[in-house]
Amino acid sequence: MALRNIVKEGDPILERKCRPVEKFDEKLHTLLDDMAETLYDSGGVGLAGPQVGILRRLCVIDVGEGLFEFINPEIVETKGEQERVEGCLSCPDQYGIILRPKYVKTRYFDRFGKEHFVEGEDLFAQAMCHEFDHLDGILFKTKVERMLSQEELEGMNEE
Ligand code: NI
Repeated sequence: MALRNIVKEGDPILERKCRPVEKFDEKLHTLLDDMAETLYDSGGVGLAGPQVGILRRLCVIDVGEGLFEFINPEIVETKGEQERVEGCLSCPDQYGIILRPKYVKTRYFDRFGKEHFVEGEDLFAQAMCHEFDHLDGILFKTKVERMLSQEELEGMNEE
Protein backbone atom coordinates (compact mmCIF):
# COMPACT_ATOMS: atom_id res chain seq x y z
CA MET A 1 0.00 0.00 0.00
CA ALA A 2 1.08 3.54 -0.58
CA LEU A 3 -0.11 7.04 0.17
CA ARG A 4 -1.37 8.96 -2.85
CA ASN A 5 -1.04 12.69 -3.31
CA ILE A 6 -4.34 14.54 -2.74
CA VAL A 7 -5.18 16.94 -5.59
CA LYS A 8 -6.08 20.42 -4.35
CA GLU A 9 -8.69 22.93 -5.45
CA GLY A 10 -7.65 24.78 -8.61
CA ASP A 11 -6.53 21.62 -10.40
CA PRO A 12 -8.93 21.20 -13.37
CA ILE A 13 -9.06 17.43 -12.83
CA LEU A 14 -11.47 18.11 -9.93
CA GLU A 15 -13.98 19.63 -12.37
CA ARG A 16 -14.09 16.75 -14.83
CA LYS A 17 -16.70 14.01 -15.04
CA CYS A 18 -15.46 10.49 -14.32
CA ARG A 19 -15.95 7.43 -16.49
CA PRO A 20 -17.34 4.20 -15.01
CA VAL A 21 -14.98 1.50 -13.71
CA GLU A 22 -14.98 -1.39 -16.17
CA LYS A 23 -12.23 -3.71 -14.91
CA PHE A 24 -12.45 -5.17 -11.41
CA ASP A 25 -8.83 -6.27 -11.42
CA GLU A 26 -5.69 -6.19 -9.29
CA LYS A 27 -4.94 -2.62 -10.37
CA LEU A 28 -8.32 -1.49 -9.01
CA HIS A 29 -7.71 -3.32 -5.73
CA THR A 30 -4.32 -1.60 -5.31
CA LEU A 31 -5.90 1.78 -6.03
CA LEU A 32 -8.66 1.17 -3.47
CA ASP A 33 -6.12 0.02 -0.85
CA ASP A 34 -4.04 3.15 -1.48
CA MET A 35 -7.12 5.39 -1.30
CA ALA A 36 -8.14 3.88 2.06
CA GLU A 37 -4.62 4.37 3.43
CA THR A 38 -4.58 7.96 2.14
CA LEU A 39 -8.01 8.62 3.65
CA TYR A 40 -7.03 7.36 7.11
CA ASP A 41 -3.75 9.28 6.95
CA SER A 42 -5.62 12.50 6.10
CA GLY A 43 -8.16 12.24 8.92
CA GLY A 44 -11.06 12.82 6.50
CA VAL A 45 -14.23 10.73 6.07
CA GLY A 46 -14.19 10.30 2.29
CA LEU A 47 -11.93 10.37 -0.75
CA ALA A 48 -12.94 10.17 -4.42
CA GLY A 49 -11.01 9.04 -7.52
CA PRO A 50 -10.39 12.51 -8.99
CA GLN A 51 -8.83 13.60 -5.69
CA VAL A 52 -5.99 11.17 -6.33
CA GLY A 53 -5.87 11.96 -10.05
CA ILE A 54 -8.04 9.05 -11.22
CA LEU A 55 -11.03 9.97 -13.41
CA ARG A 56 -13.04 6.85 -12.61
CA ARG A 57 -16.31 6.52 -10.71
CA LEU A 58 -15.05 5.25 -7.36
CA CYS A 59 -14.59 6.51 -3.82
CA VAL A 60 -13.93 5.35 -0.27
CA ILE A 61 -15.88 6.47 2.80
CA ASP A 62 -15.53 5.79 6.52
CA VAL A 63 -17.66 7.85 8.88
CA GLY A 64 -16.72 5.65 11.84
CA GLU A 65 -18.83 2.65 10.82
CA GLY A 66 -16.11 0.87 8.85
CA LEU A 67 -14.74 1.32 5.35
CA PHE A 68 -17.05 1.41 2.35
CA GLU A 69 -15.64 1.12 -1.16
CA PHE A 70 -18.07 2.49 -3.73
CA ILE A 71 -17.57 1.57 -7.38
CA ASN A 72 -19.92 3.10 -9.96
CA PRO A 73 -22.29 4.35 -7.22
CA GLU A 74 -25.72 5.70 -8.03
CA ILE A 75 -28.13 7.31 -5.57
CA VAL A 76 -31.50 5.62 -6.03
CA GLU A 77 -33.50 7.31 -3.26
CA THR A 78 -33.24 10.34 -0.99
CA LYS A 79 -35.47 11.53 1.87
CA GLY A 80 -35.62 14.68 3.93
CA GLU A 81 -33.11 17.44 4.37
CA GLN A 82 -30.32 18.34 6.77
CA GLU A 83 -28.21 21.45 7.15
CA ARG A 84 -24.60 20.58 7.91
CA VAL A 85 -21.09 21.96 8.06
CA GLU A 86 -19.01 20.49 5.26
CA GLY A 87 -15.38 20.50 4.16
CA CYS A 88 -13.20 18.68 1.64
CA LEU A 89 -9.68 17.23 1.67
CA SER A 90 -9.06 19.11 -1.60
CA CYS A 91 -10.01 22.46 0.00
CA PRO A 92 -8.03 22.54 3.27
CA ASP A 93 -9.25 24.75 6.13
CA GLN A 94 -12.42 25.79 4.30
CA TYR A 95 -15.88 24.91 5.57
CA GLY A 96 -19.37 25.85 4.54
CA ILE A 97 -23.02 25.39 5.52
CA ILE A 98 -24.74 23.05 3.07
CA LEU A 99 -28.13 21.41 2.60
CA ARG A 100 -27.98 17.67 2.00
CA PRO A 101 -30.60 14.93 2.03
CA LYS A 102 -31.14 13.39 5.49
CA TYR A 103 -31.31 9.88 4.04
CA VAL A 104 -29.70 8.37 0.97
CA LYS A 105 -30.01 4.92 -0.58
CA THR A 106 -27.24 3.95 -2.99
CA ARG A 107 -26.70 1.18 -5.49
CA TYR A 108 -23.01 0.37 -6.03
CA PHE A 109 -20.51 -2.34 -6.84
CA ASP A 110 -17.75 -3.73 -4.64
CA ARG A 111 -14.15 -4.34 -5.73
CA PHE A 112 -15.12 -7.75 -7.12
CA GLY A 113 -17.93 -6.36 -9.27
CA LYS A 114 -20.76 -7.56 -7.02
CA GLU A 115 -23.81 -5.28 -6.76
CA HIS A 116 -24.92 -3.94 -3.36
CA PHE A 117 -27.39 -1.46 -1.88
CA VAL A 118 -26.71 0.59 1.23
CA GLU A 119 -28.77 3.10 3.20
CA GLY A 120 -27.24 5.97 5.15
CA GLU A 121 -28.43 8.85 7.27
CA ASP A 122 -26.90 12.01 8.72
CA LEU A 123 -23.09 12.12 8.25
CA PHE A 124 -23.03 8.97 6.11
CA ALA A 125 -25.71 10.38 3.77
CA GLN A 126 -23.80 13.66 3.60
CA ALA A 127 -20.51 11.89 2.85
CA MET A 128 -22.06 9.82 0.04
CA CYS A 129 -23.54 12.95 -1.58
CA HIS A 130 -20.23 14.80 -1.27
CA GLU A 131 -18.06 12.00 -2.66
CA PHE A 132 -20.45 11.09 -5.48
CA ASP A 133 -20.53 14.77 -6.49
CA HIS A 134 -16.75 14.57 -6.97
CA LEU A 135 -17.36 11.89 -9.63
CA ASP A 136 -19.34 14.46 -11.61
CA GLY A 137 -16.70 17.16 -11.16
CA ILE A 138 -18.70 19.01 -8.50
CA LEU A 139 -17.01 20.58 -5.47
CA PHE A 140 -19.05 21.26 -2.30
CA LYS A 141 -18.15 24.95 -2.54
CA THR A 142 -20.40 25.32 -5.59
CA LYS A 143 -23.38 24.04 -3.54
CA VAL A 144 -22.96 25.72 -0.14
CA GLU A 145 -25.45 28.20 1.27
CA ARG A 146 -22.43 30.13 2.52
CA MET A 147 -18.84 29.55 3.58
CA LEU A 148 -17.89 29.92 7.25
CA SER A 149 -15.87 32.98 8.22
CA GLN A 150 -12.48 32.84 9.92
CA GLU A 151 -14.16 33.91 13.20
CA GLU A 152 -16.68 31.08 12.98
CA LEU A 153 -13.93 28.55 12.25
CA GLU A 154 -11.93 29.70 15.26
CA GLY A 155 -15.09 29.37 17.38
CA MET A 156 -15.53 25.77 16.16
CA ASN A 157 -11.94 24.90 17.06
CA GLU A 158 -12.42 26.12 20.63
CA GLU A 159 -15.42 23.83 21.24
NI1 NI B 1 -14.26 16.33 -1.14
